[in-house]
Amino acid sequence: MVQFTLPKGSKVAKGKVWPGPRTTNGKKPKRSKDFRVYRFDPDKDATPRVDTYTVDLESCGPMVLDALIKIKNEIDPTLTFRRSCREGVCGSCSMNIAGSNTLACTKAITDVSGPISVYPLPAMPVVKDLVPDLTNFYAQYASIEPYLQTKTAQPEAEWKQSPEERAKLDGLYECILCACCSTSCPSYWWNSERYLGPAALLQSYRWLADSRDENTGERLDNLEDPFRLYRCHTIMNCASACPKGLNPAKAIGEIKQMLVKRSV
Ligand code: SF4
Ligand code: SF4
Ligand code: FES
Repeated sequence: MVQFTLPKGSKVAKGKVWPGPRTTNGKKPKRSKDFRVYRFDPDKDATPRVDTYTVDLESCGPMVLDALIKIKNEIDPTLTFRRSCREGVCGSCSMNIAGSNTLACTKAITDVSGPISVYPLPAMPVVKDLVPDLTNFYAQYASIEPYLQTKTAQPEAEWKQSPEERAKLDGLYECILCACCSTSCPSYWWNSERYLGPAALLQSYRWLADSRDENTGERLDNLEDPFRLYRCHTIMNCASACPKGLNPAKAIGEIKQMLVKRSV
């Protein structure tokens, strides 16, 4: 019989249940919530585990990130996660909450009934706890050369763009590179070394759609490859996952159309 061996870190063990909060007179708080949080230090732990923390909601902010900060400050300082802006603009706090990729700082605790599971973004190596290793993700972003490229002489004042041309960048420039889309894409799970994934491709289209950019041909040459672009099978997980309401699948479709148009 064939035997399969799961890769390191695939089995998740039961973790510690941390003591719950008590009010000053020793009673349980009126409103509390359990958080089941993935814990893993690949340098020290043989397997990941899920620890349970109970947070007093009377003294906690409204978002999942508020609860994680409270856990770190008051219960377990070893819990590791990324965050910066706390208002949905830096993309640092992306994680898998209650089964969906999203931003911890904009996900309301009251959106989830019952205990809230908190895991790192799926299908990425884990640096520690809720921090995924995004090295490959950022390298793929760099590979699409995300900056204006021109060939004509530099204008004296500025590269001009009409309001209509500028409007073509709406739905593209707002991407905060949180990786929620790429890490929810099944094609990216299987081929993340070769398929660029929805985030990098949406960014790529952002420059293809920019009326000021003059490197369209080279940009398309760089994408015309069975893996870099064409692993997208329009499954649409990316659009459902994006916390900014963007649609990477649509951007990918536009790139495919540009490639078709230039070939006829
Ligand atoms: S539409 Fe394409 S990029 Fe988006 S989840 Fe599906 S395969 Fe991935
Ligand atoms: S398209 Fe949306 S989900 Fe994907 S990286 Fe950008 S902001 Fe995040
Ligand atoms: S902390 Fe910046 S997006 Fe959440």
